[in-house]
Amino acid sequence: MVTAVTADSGASSVVTALYVRTRALHLEAERTGVVAEILRGGASREGYALLLRNLHPAYREIEDGIERHRNSPILAPLARWRLARTSAIAADLTALAGPDWAAQWPLLPEGEAYARTISRAAEGDGSRLIAHAYTRYLGDLNGGLIVRRLLEKSLGLGAGELSHYDFSAIAEPAALKTDYRQALERAGAAAHDTDAIVAEGAVAFECNIALSIAVQRHLAGKPAPQSQGVGSP
Ligand code: HEM
Repeated sequence: MVTAVTADSGASSVVTALYVRTRALHLEAERTGVVAEILRGGASREGYALLLRNLHPAYREIEDGIERHRNSPILAPLARWRLARTSAIAADLTALAGPDWAAQWPLLPEGEAYARTISRAAEGDGSRLIAHAYTRYLGDLNGGLIVRRLLEKSLGLGAGELSHYDFSAIAEPAALKTDYRQALERAGAAAHDTDAIVAEGAVAFECNIALSIAVQRHLAGKPAPQSQGVGSP
């Protein structure tokens, strides 16, 4: 469903470069695994909860990593925004499964690999975190809003289970989308190696696709084949 490059994106824009590099992967992400089931309105509550549980460590790595680099000229524009999706997701999981959600729902190898990939991206000057922030937060602020409506409709989830997509405490969603995109641009402009950020964007999408497939397989009781594990070291 990614169709257009917005007007604020110039030729040297890191966001445009990420968009172009990940366009085909975005389509693949929409069409695969548990994400495709959610989009069709056919996902179960368990499927959604398992996906969310496995995204939780990824968000923690993004948010901890940006926080660690908050005084660097590269990541300071992103650190300004405390999007705090890690705690929002934990609240949703508690509402969905109770306080022992982490014991109820396994961390799959693909969830672990995604978090590890982000933790490595946070090494050095941390500039590859820009790609992970782009992938998750612009995803949440775009398709995430569609996903929220689908989950309300197909699974009857309420606001207390969908705070992952509720940014109202931070800013009005349309304004936040524009402002966060600009923050990503400023971070990208301060970074030294745009190519590495763009390459990391593809890795981020591949991690999401691998996780989405793994969640679907887990619920169907099928072990993932050896080759699954994109994003693992
Ligand atoms: C349920 C499936 C999904 C739907 C329906 C969906 C839908 C959308 C839509 C409508 C946009 C806005 C497109 C535009 O401005 O032209 C968008 C953008 C985006 N989506 Fe998704 N999406 C889905 C899954 C994902 C996934 C799994 C990811 C990655 C984890 C993702 C990451 C992004 C990103 C990073 C953008 C911003 C693109 C840009 O403006 O540069 N989306 N999505």
